[in-house]
Amino acid sequence: MASKTITLHVNGEVRTITVRASDTLLFALRGKLGLTGPKPGCLNGDCGACTINVDGWPMKSCLMLAVEAVGKEVVTIEGLHDTPIQRAFVEEFAFQCGYCTPGFIMNCHSLLKQHPDADDRIIKEWLESNICRCTSYIEIEKAVKSVLRKEEPGG
Ligand code: FES
Ligand code: FES
Repeated sequence: MASKTITLHVNGEVRTITVRASDTLLFALRGKLGLTGPKPGCLNGDCGACTINVDGWPMKSCLMLAVEAVGKEVVTIEGLHDTPIQRAFVEEFAFQCGYCTPGFIMNCHSLLKQHPDADDRIIKEWLESNICRCTSYIEIEKAVKSVLRKEEPGG
């Protein structure tokens, strides 16, 4: 299959890689750029483990082709540094094994940007796009709410 060289904007950097037309963005991020924060799970859009941000919105990177990301701002969990939602996940113990956590955090990071006044309904709707097999969703919701209310996490 023909390969193509493309330039992507990822985590504030310009990165040039060679991909096949059929390569997903998840594959390119992990295999070509060494960004292993986005996790492969279902690979069909159900679990959310591969969630990243594209132009400020959550995107399941298993559902997007790498070539579709040209000209867009891509952010992975590696591009976040000590953000309020990352601190809140730690303070609220919002994970156990951690496999789903990068995807949840990227989803929640977008949620907080797009809906700074999110109510319970919006929070529940957004969290439905990600699946966690081993911890309680209550702690994840609490983490989001602690940032929304600008409370100290744990309070
Ligand atoms: S791996 Fe992308 S949604 Fe599950
Ligand atoms: S913390 Fe294990 S799958 Fe979510």
